[in-house]
Amino acid sequence: MSNKVVIGAQWGDEGKAKITDLLAQNADLIIRYQGGCNAGHTVVAHGKTFKFHLIPSGILYNGKTCLIGNGTVILPEYFEQEIEGLKKENIDISGLKVSPLATITMPWHTEVDGYSEDNASKGKIGTTKKGIGPTYTDKMARIALKIGDLYSPEALNEKLDVILPLKNKQLKELYGLKTYMKEEVLELCRKYAKIFEPYVCFEWQEMLQNFKREGKKVLFEGAQGVMLDVDFGTYPFVTSSNPVGGGAATGSGYGPRMIDEVIGVAKAYVTRVGEGPFVTELTDETGDKIREIGHEFGVTTGRPRRCGWFDAVTMKYACLVGGLTSIALTKIDVFDNFEEIKVCTAYKDIRDGKIYTSYPTDVYIHKYLTPVYETHKGWGEDITGVRKYEDLPANARKYLERLEEILETPISIVSVGPDREQTIFK
Ligand code: GDP
Ligand code: IMO
Ligand code: MG
Repeated sequence: MSNKVVIGAQWGDEGKAKITDLLAQNADLIIRYQGGCNAGHTVVAHGKTFKFHLIPSGILYNGKTCLIGNGTVILPEYFEQEIEGLKKENIDISGLKVSPLATITMPWHTEVDGYSEDNASKGKIGTTKKGIGPTYTDKMARIALKIGDLYSPEALNEKLDVILPLKNKQLKELYGLKTYMKEEVLELCRKYAKIFEPYVCFEWQEMLQNFKREGKKVLFEGAQGVMLDVDFGTYPFVTSSNPVGGGAATGSGYGPRMIDEVIGVAKAYVTRVGEGPFVTELTDETGDKIREIGHEFGVTTGRPRRCGWFDAVTMKYACLVGGLTSIALTKIDVFDNFEEIKVCTAYKDIRDGKIYTSYPTDVYIHKYLTPVYETHKGWGEDITGVRKYEDLPANARKYLERLEEILETPISIVSVGPDREQTIFK
C-alpha cells in the first residue's frame, strides 16, 4: 500500500470513516490531522456500529498506531468520554497517541462558540458548538494551550499570565460571560494532564522517523470536507481548519512528499448540516426521500442533514483544490429505488442567464444560482450485495462512468452499504 490521505470531498459526512477503516487494514499508522470532536465518524464492522469523534477510525484493528496529530483541537472531557466508551466495548486502545503539539479546547472556547451561535442575528453558521472556531482562532492568535504545556509548569505559568487577562477582558466585556482565575485554570490543567498522560507522545519525532525509515504505511484520516475548508469552502459557512489533502502535511508531522494518494470520499448525492449555500438542495419530497433512505441525521448533533442531488460543479472544484488522485463514491445504494437520478453539471444565474461550469467562489451570489441537471435512468434493483464492479447493473455502471468523465478523476472505490464488506474496489 502507498501512503494515502482520505478526505471528504463535499460538506462532510461522506462516509470517510468507513473508507478509512477499510484502508486501515493495510496501514501501520493512522493519523487524524485536523478538526476535533466536531467530526462524527461511523464504522460498521461485524454487525456493530462504532462512532468516533476524535479517535482515528483505525483504532478497531489491534497492533496499529493511531495518532491524533498536531493539527487537531482537543476537547479533553470529550476525549475522555470517547476513550471510556471504547474501553467499555473492549477495544484495544494501546496504540493511541496524542501529539503534544495538538491544541486544547478550553471551557471558554465552547462557551464563546455557544454564545456566538445562540446570539447571532445574522451570519449564523450552525456550528457543532464544540469550540472549534474559538480554539483555532486562539491558536492562530498564539494564545492557545497545547497538550504538551500541561506537563510544563513554566509554559503553563507564563502562558496563562498572558492568556487570562486577555481572555477575561474578552469574556466579560464582549460576551458578558464568566471569567477565570489562574488557580482554577491550573486545577483544570492538572485534571487534563491526567486524562492525556497515557497517550501523550513526546517521542513523536522518533516515532514518525522510525515509521518512515522502515517504509511503514501511513493513512491520514481527514475530517469534515473540502467545501467546509476555511480557505476553499463556502466561507464564512465553513469550519476553521483545512480538510483538503494538503492539511495532512501541516497537521501530522510529515511533509507532502510522504503522501502518494489522496482519496476524496463523496456521496452519490450531497448533504450539508448547518447554514450556508447549497445550490442543489432539495426541500421537496425527493430531499425527504434521500434523507429517510440515507438516514441523514448528524452523528455529533443529531441534526437532520440537508439533502440534494450530486453537484459535479463543487465536486470538480474539490478534485482540484483537495488534490484528489481518485474518488470513493459512497451511498449509491440509496438510489436503488429511484427511477431517475440527477447530476448537476453547471449553475445558471437567474439574473442574467450566465452559466457557470467552474465553481464561483463568491458564495454571496449562490442564492441567484439554479442547478443545470442531466438526468440518468435508475437501476431499480438492490445493489447492496454486489461486490464486483462488473456485477453492478448496467445503468449504475453508466452513471459511475459518466461521473468519472465529468470529474476527470477515476472512481477507485464504490460503496454500496455501511458495512466494511459492502464495498467494490474498482
Ligand atoms: P463521515 O463523517 O464522513 O465518516 O460519515 P458519517 O459517519 O458522518 O456518515 C456516513 C453515514 O453513512 C454513516 O452512517 C455510515 O455508516 C453510512 N454509510 C457509509 N457508506 C455507506 C454506503 O455506501 N451506503 C449506505 N447506505 N450507508 C453508508
Ligand atoms: P465529519 O468529519 C458535517 C459543519 C457544522 C457547521 C460548520 C462549522 O463528520 O464529516 P464547527 O463546529 O466545525 O465550527 O462548525 O461545519 N461541520 C460538519 N458537517 N460533518 C462534519 O464532520 C462537520 N464538522 C463540522 O455543521 O456547518
Ligand atoms: Mg460525520
